[in-house]
Amino acid sequence: MAIYLDTSNIDEIRKYTKMGIISGVTTNPTILHKEGASGGMKGLKEKMLEVARIVAPHPLSVEVTTNHREGMIAQAKEIAGWAKNIVIKITVHGPNGELDNMSVIHELETKHDIRINVTAMMSAQQCFLAALAGASYVSLLGGRVNNMGYNSIEEVKKLRYLLDRYQLKAKIILASTREILNVIEWLCAGADIVTVAPNFIEGMIVHPYTKETVQMFLADAAKAGH
Ligand code: G3P
Repeated sequence: MAIYLDTSNIDEIRKYTKMGIISGVTTNPTILHKEGASGGMKGLKEKMLEVARIVAPHPLSVEVTTNHREGMIAQAKEIAGWAKNIVIKITVHGPNGELDNMSVIHELETKHDIRINVTAMMSAQQCFLAALAGASYVSLLGGRVNNMGYNSIEEVKKLRYLLDRYQLKAKIILASTREILNVIEWLCAGADIVTVAPNFIEGMIVHPYTKETVQMFLADAAKAGH
């Protein structure tokens, strides 16, 4: 586990899966909306099934679209049933700080054997509690943390320490990537996974000096008649 793609764009997912670089995909309702999702739950199912097939056996995170307790449980069960490699994303609490989510996460992981990725978290303490509740993945939105003036790297280090010390199974996902620099910094700080928009991967690979070097090799090969 290292890099996931934070997108529902089929062409991009195919492209980077073929390179062997990515080991999972994450989505959320905003990404799906921005990338032109349509067709209600039926449309979502078709799209997510296609993505799940492309990335299998790696995980695909799909977020529930309600914050009502019974609705979250029903949707989680339904969506998790679409494909074996689907992980359900649930926010750590509701839009007004409602606490139901934590018991829903615990119930889905322990009673229904559904893998949960707890999202929208801004601190090590939120992630730690989600891990205690039994989450398989805890998503810290590092870019948003930095935007608020806090240091995401320090949060990752604290969280790594806590999960290791208490032997909690949750994998740390760093999301909300803002700069290419974030990817390696967060992995070095202790994240298991960084999830990125596709253009970040191209940015990590392509370097102007590498271009110049390759151009030199090709030009000299041509001059030598090779
Ligand atoms: O799902 C979490 C992540 O994708 C959010 O990213 O860019 O909206 O902060 P962003």
